[in-house]
Amino acid sequence: MRSNLFKTKPLEKLQFESGDHQGLKRALTSTNLVTLGIGAIIGAGIFVLTGQAAAQYAGPAIVISFIISGMACAFAGLCYAEFAAMIPIAGSAYTYAYATLGEFLAWVIGWDLILEYLFAASTVSVGWSGYVVSFLKDFDIYLPAALTSATGTVMVDIPELGWRPLTQHLTETLASQGILVDSLPQTTALMNLPAMFIVAVLTLLLIMGIKESANFNNLMVIIKVAVIILFIALGFAFVQGAHWKPFIPPNTGTWGHFGWSGILRGAGVIFFAYIGFDAVSTAAQEAKNPQRDMPIGIMGSLSVSTILYILVAIVLTGIVSYTHLNVADPVAVGVDAMGEKMFWLRPIIKIAAIAGLSSVILVMMLGQPRIFYSMAKDGLLPPVFSRVHRKYKTPYASTLMTGSVALVFAGILPISILGELVSIGTLLAFTIVCISIIVLRRTKPEFPRPFRTPWVPLIPLLGAGICLLQMFSLPWDTWLRLILWMLIGFMIYFFYGRFHSKLKD
Ligand code: ALA
Repeated sequence: MRSNLFKTKPLEKLQFESGDHQGLKRALTSTNLVTLGIGAIIGAGIFVLTGQAAAQYAGPAIVISFIISGMACAFAGLCYAEFAAMIPIAGSAYTYAYATLGEFLAWVIGWDLILEYLFAASTVSVGWSGYVVSFLKDFDIYLPAALTSATGTVMVDIPELGWRPLTQHLTETLASQGILVDSLPQTTALMNLPAMFIVAVLTLLLIMGIKESANFNNLMVIIKVAVIILFIALGFAFVQGAHWKPFIPPNTGTWGHFGWSGILRGAGVIFFAYIGFDAVSTAAQEAKNPQRDMPIGIMGSLSVSTILYILVAIVLTGIVSYTHLNVADPVAVGVDAMGEKMFWLRPIIKIAAIAGLSSVILVMMLGQPRIFYSMAKDGLLPPVFSRVHRKYKTPYASTLMTGSVALVFAGILPISILGELVSIGTLLAFTIVCISIIVLRRTKPEFPRPFRTPWVPLIPLLGAGICLLQMFSLPWDTWLRLILWMLIGFMIYFFYGRFHSKLKD
């Protein structure tokens, strides 16, 4: 049988397909694309992970972790920008790999991107649920603990704090205060209902239209960015230089626990905060002027988010000692540290987090079906995945499938397992995109590039190098899950994809 494993999809064919007006609707402007990027980027990373990474790994030097991780993303972002302007197709990294590295690696990356988009939607919806539960509690509305966490999670009712998932860290903290966990009420969670709810609502919105989804996203982005700027502006007055000393806490003797290895480990964790700028490229087929606007959308959203992240990290570690930040809502802890007069800011921060996380879930669930759409158009997935709704002009069937799977994962899986899988999957995608840029510059030097990544091959090599470094800093069991996931993908390709591929000799 003929083998397509290393056969690439001709660029000319891809460009022709990008002009296909039968399918998705071209409705997005450059502003929409920038807000789409910011929508996907700013979320759980800053509202949840920053504090934990500072407390456990890097201390105030989490600021350096943000810079390192931001640099890797900027390099990868430049590579994405070149591809997205040159091949404005919904498939993103999957399509770029198809054009450069061949069908098999394209499939690998398409399958890998599910880890990024679909799993990120589930991960972030779990964070969303946490913030909603806490927000409602402030108004004395209590959701049953058994319905607010991953299936099987043991929940414990802590005096004054309420129900929390039982962790080793929590047990130790309570023990240090003389409280025995076993003496507190406990229950085992059935599912995370609020997380499932938000996934369901946003899936329906995504089916109803790209413009409607973009408008909702714009509103969420305005709320979260405005509140983050407010936090930074007000927070600066409460900074105490003493909290930054030592800026790089000395290593404890274990790799990754403070010192420079801790900064690197922190960068690996914080990388999650940057995920999402690449989702802009999945909307390439719905952009009005992709050649010009894709690079603006990708690099614009990445720049705004990077600046905000670095400022939040500086302020947060300046107003409260990093040792107090190992909590699910570090920004709220920062507000507490500003004193009673600033308590009015607490609910506002929670609203911003809820808005922010909603837009992340939305854009992630916008990206996934569009990759499925491209893969199905190429025959690597069944045709149902490329069905476009007649009236709404959205890939409704793949949106519905993505939403249903994300909903189940959100309801039953814990956030930590999901989060690390998202990071490793995305890092792999970025690495392949960076390498693909170098390959395509050699194989198709003459092809028109509306945007060119500067200093090739240096920038793509640095991008791929830092991404690989961050991948190696992740735990071994995350690697194992990645390998398992890939093996499942290989089987689907060898039993389905390669027999149905539309790429002819
Ligand atoms: N960057 C996104 C977030 O932090 C995935 O929530």
